[in-house]
Amino acid sequence: MLMDIKIPAVKMRDITKRFGPVVANDKVWLDIYRGEILSLLGENGSGKTTLMNMLSGIYFPDEGTIEIDGKEVVIKSPKDALNLGIGMVHQHFKLVDVMTAAENIILGLPGKKDIKAACAKIKEICDRYGFDVDPNEKIYNMSVSQKQTVEIVKVLYRGAEILILDEPTAVLTPQESDKLFAVMRNMRDDGKAIVIITHKMHEVEDVSDRVAILRKGQFVGDMLTASTNAEEMTNMMVGHAVHLNIERPEPVNSVPRMEIKDLTVRSIEGVVKLDNVSFTLNSGEILGIAGISGCGQKELLEAIAGLQRTEKGSISYINDDGSHEELIGKDPLAIQNLGVTLSFVPEDRLGMGLVANMDLSDNMMLRSFRKGRSFFTDRKAPRTLAENIVKELEVVTPGVTTPVRRLSGGNVQKVLVGREIASAPKVLLTAYAVRGLDVNSSYVIYDLLNKQKQAGVGIIYVGEDLDVLLELSDRILVLCGGKVSGIIDGRSADKRQVGLMMTKLGGEANEE
Ligand SMILES: Nc1ncnc2c1ncn2[C@@H]1O[C@H](COP(=O)(O)OP(=O)(O)O)[C@@H](O)[C@H]1O
Ligand SMILES: [Mg+2]
Repeated sequence: MLMDIKIPAVKMRDITKRFGPVVANDKVWLDIYRGEILSLLGENGSGKTTLMNMLSGIYFPDEGTIEIDGKEVVIKSPKDALNLGIGMVHQHFKLVDVMTAAENIILGLPGKKDIKAACAKIKEICDRYGFDVDPNEKIYNMSVSQKQTVEIVKVLYRGAEILILDEPTAVLTPQESDKLFAVMRNMRDDGKAIVIITHKMHEVEDVSDRVAILRKGQFVGDMLTASTNAEEMTNMMVGHAVHLNIERPEPVNSVPRMEIKDLTVRSIEGVVKLDNVSFTLNSGEILGIAGISGCGQKELLEAIAGLQRTEKGSISYINDDGSHEELIGKDPLAIQNLGVTLSFVPEDRLGMGLVANMDLSDNMMLRSFRKGRSFFTDRKAPRTLAENIVKELEVVTPGVTTPVRRLSGGNVQKVLVGREIASAPKVLLTAYAVRGLDVNSSYVIYDLLNKQKQAGVGIIYVGEDLDVLLELSDRILVLCGGKVSGIIDGRSADKRQVGLMMTKLGGEANEE
């Protein structure tokens, strides 16, 4: 008998998944073993969730094969996945608020609903792994951590042997994370295969036995956690610098435009999201924000735009005459009415940015336009503007009267960026402006931003791609766990150095 050859519980081979022009997974190989906690590590957008969604039956691969315990399988639905013993806990919970934990756990299962028997089985699972959940408690009475526990118990109840947790600690306090790690270890010791998706280095080191790393949709390697270290993992996550040939004109006549001091933001759950952040934004520059997802980029932009409650600090806008205006305490509209034009391209392009059922012209009208320098010098009517955007940005649409929801994601993005620019801002905040765009469209957006910069706009650019940040930004502010871990010159920045600053504050372990 070949006793010591371990057959993987899951063997993924050459898995490719495309979303339009985006290759989310590119010939990925991955092995998952029983009795092991595997960290799936990678930057935001590297394809971790997509890969796991193909195991849990949410997506179907375009190419490649999946084997479970050595047998090739086809997973077409979450039900197929559960029949194979695969259960996934997603980032967004899918619980029914008005029902109890037990009712949620047995929801949709065949057979007669026997709450008493269900509660007994739930209790058995909880005792076995150390979960703390009251089966009779309604979901709306629960903390985020308790809801997550219900989600995990739910998949265990359904017989999951291979358990995938997608960034489970993103919503937890450090104490709650430790509790989660303890039950994960119990499940592993019970022989289950556990995958934790994360981009936090210290979590990989704390909880996992093995780590597999994805970069831009590709598998770059896996190793035993004990045999690697944060620096090696960071290097693998970030990779070598790739030359993109993005233009970077020199800033001219730069003057301070916005001064941020000791900005502190706390989430509703009480987690510190921004911790005494201080920096200055100049006119005519692109300030790139680097950091792993969840390090506070979103809160920073929202705080400046007046969309985020702040706990401490100041955001001071500096007028052309040198006078200062405090932005904290003003609502978004008041910020605009003051003559402080902040433009915001949200992460969720169809969420708050555009109205899907309205056509392009009407979406243009959602913005009030101010006089000023603009790439779109013509500011006659929203319709003209819409036509200009369609033309300049090469938006693929039958016409400006087509509802925005009928456009592809990339084209929606162009409209969004175009509209923000058309409002002739002094400060332009952009987050994920090129997310989901093909290469050519991305360059169109970089050109637009550069033109704005040359017109004197101070731009804060939050992006997922370090290579882009390194070529586009005049300066790069690196955030790590809500703190500024450094502000460096974009022209001389080294990719590895930025990568390390993203994961470790000032070179020291970041305990958050
Ligand atoms: N449903 C989707 N439609 C279009 N693009 C998607 C979809 N899901 C993911 N993507 C894209 O695929 C890439 C990988 O995304 P994802 O798997 O969510 O990364 P991660 O989980 O590592 O942050 C990203 O470029 C993302 O924008
Ligand atoms: Mg993800």
